[in-house]
Amino acid sequence: MCGIVGYIGDGSAKEAILTGLKNLEYRGYDSAGIAIGKKDKILLRKESGELENLIAKTQKSDFDGTIGIGHTRWATHGSPIRENAHPHLSADGRVAIVHNGIIENYIELKHMLTEEHGIIFKSETDSEVIAQLIGIYYEGDLLEAVRAAVKCVRGAYAIGVMAADVSDTIIAVRKDAPLIAGIGEGCNYLASDIPAVLGHTRDIYVIENDEIVVITKDDIKIYDEDMTRVSRDIMHVEWDAAAAEKGGYEDFMKKEIFEQPRGVKETLERRLTEGDEIWLDGIELSKEEIENIDRIYIVACGTASYAGIQGVTLFEKFAGIPSESDIASEFRYRNPLVNERTLCVCISQSGETTDTLEALREAKRKGARILSICNVVGSSVARESDDVMFTWAGPEIAVASTKAYTTQLICLYLLALYMGRAKGTLPDAEYRSVLAELKQIPDKLTEVLKTEDQIKTLAEKFYIKEQVFYIGRGMDVGTAFEASLKLKEITYINSFAIAAGELKHGTIALVRNQTLFFVLATQDKLYEKMLSNIEEIKARKAYVVSVAKEGNTRVAKVSDETIYIPNCADDVAPILAVVPMQLLAYHIAKMLKRNIDKPRNLAKSVTVE
Ligand code: F6R
Repeated sequence: MCGIVGYIGDGSAKEAILTGLKNLEYRGYDSAGIAIGKKDKILLRKESGELENLIAKTQKSDFDGTIGIGHTRWATHGSPIRENAHPHLSADGRVAIVHNGIIENYIELKHMLTEEHGIIFKSETDSEVIAQLIGIYYEGDLLEAVRAAVKCVRGAYAIGVMAADVSDTIIAVRKDAPLIAGIGEGCNYLASDIPAVLGHTRDIYVIENDEIVVITKDDIKIYDEDMTRVSRDIMHVEWDAAAAEKGGYEDFMKKEIFEQPRGVKETLERRLTEGDEIWLDGIELSKEEIENIDRIYIVACGTASYAGIQGVTLFEKFAGIPSESDIASEFRYRNPLVNERTLCVCISQSGETTDTLEALREAKRKGARILSICNVVGSSVARESDDVMFTWAGPEIAVASTKAYTTQLICLYLLALYMGRAKGTLPDAEYRSVLAELKQIPDKLTEVLKTEDQIKTLAEKFYIKEQVFYIGRGMDVGTAFEASLKLKEITYINSFAIAAGELKHGTIALVRNQTLFFVLATQDKLYEKMLSNIEEIKARKAYVVSVAKEGNTRVAKVSDETIYIPNCADDVAPILAVVPMQLLAYHIAKMLKRNIDKPRNLAKSVTVE
């Protein structure tokens, strides 16, 4: 979740780096810093809090040069104070570094540097050991010093390095943390993420694990760990920088909620042929290969894991393959029964979530085929998977995931239908009817978004609540989990989701006068059961807001309020039902004046375990 930006060229390093860091704000940060090389010196500015604080400290015109590195930090080791912000300098001030990731053996390195070299550390961070190591090894050859230093460290890193007496080169190295180099005109860039350089260039090199990059103003040279030159194709980024802006909406989250009809349409329709066959966009999955799969594990975190819960139902129903959804942070510690016949479906918006990546690697080690559903081209998950199905949602900037979730669902439907059809186990009529339902979803989402005024009125009523419950059955359970997460992460209201049938096994003890329940009741086959659940909590004086399909008037009779979604098949209802819940969380957060796009303690991409 930290961001790195570097610049070398004829222009202003300060401007390029600060613009880049601003473009990376969505990653989340709690301090920032910049180092500029000037006349054999390194000028350093760091500040905690908003980037504006750093910008204010860099206003003087003599704070600029033609080479520099910058960083936004999200605290992992050491509190979010100025001293812990990057860049970090070596003890003699000759070397500056920025680092994303975690150095696992930093305590022993720190001890060694203190005992054997008398280094006095200025920060509490693990990252500073890198600056100190390079400082120790630097005897005129910066590249060799960086290589020697990274040989000592264990962990994950993307590191950018400059030295006071090297005015024409930035060195960078990566292992398990994202890194790119941007190709400019009369200048070149270094960054952790593509948006950082998009204002300046669309041509980039994606740096791979264990590679080292030497960047000058006219050249970018990539080497492997043995210093063999690597040739890399230039990736031309198609997406528009403007797509990453708010486009007239007050917040990115609202913009992204309203982008769902389009994102879903793209993700779905670009994969359908004229005859309504599913085309998996380059993924080769033959009948034999599918028949060979005896188990599917879906691994993901947070919202993506709730998409995974729906995936289990879809894979079992349409493809007839036993499936399980696991939280990525748990998966690899329970010795999962993965082998060559396992398909591991990793779901990740960012493609950089460490827990998901580690689960992916564990499944890969055990022989599984890895098929990922991911929103970011060139991300680590995308690159390390055997196959990738991209969600064409466009960049998701708000921390709370919305359009990534609904497009992840679409990928899961397509994959499950494709597998069932290829195996011959899914009857043609069922296949066609589910596809027909899916094709109506973009228009129906537009209808759902029209309920915003009703939802806003509900938000005005409920924003004072301290606790909210979400219940559902069948595919509504996954929706309940996702709805509850949305509410808690952006409003900070305590919310709890539970399968409705589980209520009476304990949780019902919490129900009293006016306890607020959101009841997801979109599954026709479980409708009667949900009515009983509503009666059960109403008898204990709960206040019930139900989400049901148009035409289901019985639910309105027993509920205090009802939000209707357009009529649809049970199978596809989760894609529609989640949207009013996103809007509800959004409007409650708005009433509470929360920082909607950047809720407290959260970051967009969680690159620590
Ligand atoms: C919640 C949210 C998180 C992410 C989770 C996984 O709104 O955004 O729960 O879903 O951190 O992130 P990705 O999908 O990037 O792997």
